[in-house]
Amino acid sequence: MARVENKVVLISGGASGIGAATARRVIAEGGKAVLADRDAAKGEALAKELGKAVAFVPLDVTDEPAWQKAVTTTVETFGGLHGLLNAAGVGVRNSIEDCSLEEYRRVNDINSMGTFLGCKQAIPAMAKTIKEQGGGGSIVNISSVLGLRGASYAMAYCASKGAVRSLTKNVALHCAQMKYGIRCNSVHPGYIDTPMIAPRLSGTIDNMSGRQWLETLHPLGRLGQAEEVANMILFLLSDESGFSTGSEFVCDGGLTA
Ligand SMILES: NC(=O)c1ccc[n+]([C@@H]2O[C@H](COP(=O)([O-])OP(=O)(O)OC[C@H]3O[C@@H](n4cnc5c(N)ncnc54)[C@H](O)[C@@H]3O)[C@@H](O)[C@H]2O)c1
Repeated sequence: MARVENKVVLISGGASGIGAATARRVIAEGGKAVLADRDAAKGEALAKELGKAVAFVPLDVTDEPAWQKAVTTTVETFGGLHGLLNAAGVGVRNSIEDCSLEEYRRVNDINSMGTFLGCKQAIPAMAKTIKEQGGGGSIVNISSVLGLRGASYAMAYCASKGAVRSLTKNVALHCAQMKYGIRCNSVHPGYIDTPMIAPRLSGTIDNMSGRQWLETLHPLGRLGQAEEVANMILFLLSDESGFSTGSEFVCDGGLTA
């Protein structure tokens, strides 16, 4: 049997990078995926390429009614909701002294509040699906290694990803207490070669290219690939990870070791 046979997974940030790679893994393992992204052109094109097991819904993760619509569309299209991947996010460089209040709010609204809204809106639909259809539900929130440690050059991002880590544990405990059959875990990637970090690869830092500098942060000596993170997420979305909830899953080439 395929690893997520007939499971329906809603993926914010599904048009690109780790979200898109996860959608490919989900359908390869028998599931259905709904790509939810603010980049409609990219999301629609990917949904078309991936075929009938994939749909696209427009979503700005900071917009609660848009989340409600994304959840409703998912249930109407594929008959339920078993999994949620909160992958939408933005990466920015700033320090405590040069970050404006506006920028701090923007980064935290997308990365942290967007994850909160996704969990809040998806849980009732997931609980209903599981009650009616059986099986297990799973929420995966993408944090970062920068949700586990600091980086003076990415203050607002670190704060937003630390919030995702903590939110995840609270969602996990609530769902366990309510006996919904929904687990919730956070994933903490190191630097992954996706469009998000593309602007950082070309510059020069400490007489190295941006790419080389980032590579040296990882004991494995390279950047991660979106597919490597997607493999971990697939495990968490599947019932194979049935005894894991409220935990941190690190995928970082040894960076935090
Ligand atoms: N790439 C890395 O090095 C890395 C490392 C650690 C964590 N992460 C996290 O992984 C997640 C996925 O990032 P990625 O590397 O795949 O980046 P990416 O830029 O390839 O994909 C991010 C997607 O999120 C979407 N998005 C951004 N803001 C949105 C909003 N307000 N509403 C809806 N969609 C929005 C973008 O349109 C894009 O499709 C992010 O949360 C990121 O912070 C990435």
